[in-house]
Amino acid sequence: MTSNRPVLAVLSGDGVGPEVTAEARRVIDWFGANRGLEIDVRDKPFGYPAYLEHGTLLPDDTLAEVKSADAVLFGAIGGVEYGDLPPEVRRSGGLLRIRRELDLYANLRPIKAIDAMADASPLKPEVMQGTDLVIVRELSSGIYFGEPRGVEKLPDGSERAINTQSYTTDEIRRVARAAFELARSRSGRLCSVDKSNVMESGALWRRVVAAVGADEFPDVELSNMLADNCAMQLILAPRQFDVLVTDNLFGDLLSDGAGAVLGSLGMLPSASLGPADADGRRQALYEPVHGSAPDIAGQGIANPTAAILSVAMMLRLSLGRADDAAMLEQAVGNAITAGTRTADIVAPGAKPVSTTQMGDAVVAELERLAE
Ligand code: IPM
Ligand code: MG
Repeated sequence: MTSNRPVLAVLSGDGVGPEVTAEARRVIDWFGANRGLEIDVRDKPFGYPAYLEHGTLLPDDTLAEVKSADAVLFGAIGGVEYGDLPPEVRRSGGLLRIRRELDLYANLRPIKAIDAMADASPLKPEVMQGTDLVIVRELSSGIYFGEPRGVEKLPDGSERAINTQSYTTDEIRRVARAAFELARSRSGRLCSVDKSNVMESGALWRRVVAAVGADEFPDVELSNMLADNCAMQLILAPRQFDVLVTDNLFGDLLSDGAGAVLGSLGMLPSASLGPADADGRRQALYEPVHGSAPDIAGQGIANPTAAILSVAMMLRLSLGRADDAAMLEQAVGNAITAGTRTADIVAPGAKPVSTTQMGDAVVAELERLAE
């Protein structure tokens, strides 16, 4: 194709992925029709449907498209059917392979409370309201990928399973830079999270982050927190945080925990960014944090907010459309504040809306904001 419009590869995948991605697509179409967004959207087979048709979760053509695209919009992967897949099929085709192949090392997970949703949170309104933080999770290294790994048989017939937590100076440095830059564009505060009291990789993490801060970001106020304490602080007083930076595994755990502040993972978008090339272009994948949610898949009740807010992140970070991103976030906030809420975040005693109705409400708010 000879168009020079940016290419968006869409991998809606498994479970609720297709349902929530469909609403994200409607929003993209709205910006195309009303705000001059020109983008070449290409749907690509991925996940279990791709396995049934092509014998692999990640067909070569999908991987090639993902690598050359300007951005990837990702739905979800996983489900009960994966229990029967050979381990090599899973390993060669999963989300982790994409993260690794695209070198998506900086994963941004914003957690921003919509105050009117306080009744969906397990926390007191005064604790939840005003929460506005971003977890920057290292995504392409650490214990998810470290070698050696595997399972070995021991002489007595039992087994030993091994994973390795490993970080190099460069791997820590580049994610630290991404986090410092983000902190600089927000409140100017960064909290780095590790287990430097127990782990060598944590001690190196802390040293390297401090050096990056001192050398390149003296204007950003850096603090450190141990990961276990951070898990508690995120729930006790989430408003104390602005930008956090942490490793792959702690970032996985802490972002789910922080999601509970809002009451549902259905609210959490994410962006995963790779290194910039010579033209300043970076590989980027946008994805709701919630995953495939097989228990509710196919019922039309999943919350599309995380997928829709992932589109906002794409507008801002890959397409240079910060105003459109802010407009979309505003539309989502307005729709939810007006009471349009899916089952996972519904107000006590109110009637939940469907996935499509949530999308309808966001599009209606966009129409209003555009007037
Ligand atoms: C996430 C998910 C993934 C992870 C799974 C699906 C492999 O939990 O993106 O947080 O552990 O990174
Ligand atoms: Mg996770």
